[in-house]
Amino acid sequence: MKLTDALNRRYATKAFDATKKLPEAVVEQLFALLRLSPSSTNIQPWHFIVASTEQGKARLAKGAGGSYSYNESKILNASHVVLFCARTQVDEAHLQNVLAAEERDGRFTAKPEVKIAAHNTRLAYLNEHKYIKKDVPHWLEKQVYLNMGSFLLGAALLEIDAVPLEGLDQAILDAEFDLNSFDLTAVTAVALGYRADSDFNAGLPKSRLAVDDIFTLI
Ligand SMILES: Cc1cc2nc3c(=O)[nH]c(=O)nc-3n(C[C@H](O)[C@H](O)[C@H](O)COP(=O)(O)O)c2cc1C
Repeated sequence: MKLTDALNRRYATKAFDATKKLPEAVVEQLFALLRLSPSSTNIQPWHFIVASTEQGKARLAKGAGGSYSYNESKILNASHVVLFCARTQVDEAHLQNVLAAEERDGRFTAKPEVKIAAHNTRLAYLNEHKYIKKDVPHWLEKQVYLNMGSFLLGAALLEIDAVPLEGLDQAILDAEFDLNSFDLTAVTAVALGYRADSDFNAGLPKSRLAVDDIFTLI
């Protein structure tokens, strides 16, 4: 599919056909999107809870009660729902985990000092956010949003319907999955599947600000 076709095809799906499930081969590609997303210094400050069973989706739907109940049926009727979680902090164990993965994946074979440089660069960025900008959780969460952005485009290229769901009670989801104990917190979710014939949003035209409103060409 051409990029512009995917951009126009993608839309916030408001009603999913509960009878249609994503094929396993597509799910694998969606996992690759999540895993291969870029992040600053490759810090990968995320974890993904993927619900595809009725029980799993019901657990996620606990975050869509009360004033978020407009999102409940999207979670329950989607084929798969990904809860994007962000690390609340980065400790030495996580830094060493990333470094070990980079070594395993063969990134330090040319010169051993590259490994030290990779670690030091990551630590320097982390320390800048910790001690100077004082925005570590916010910085980490931004990496998660970047992942979600590329995930949405990738899903569209795979001709999968999806909707990002920021309208969730993150505290309820944190408690449901005991996320804080793992230095994680729920950020946002994406429900995926196939649009229902009844989805009012499928036929509406896309609306965006005009080109002149948003670009400055220099
Ligand atoms: C970060 C983010 C959070 C969103 N949260 C919700 C949500 O909770 N429920 C929902 O139905 N749509 C949600 N949306 C969908 C937006 O309303 C939609 O993307 C926007 O109106 C543009 O329309 P389009 O995606 O159909 O092009 C969210 C979108 C983004 C990017």
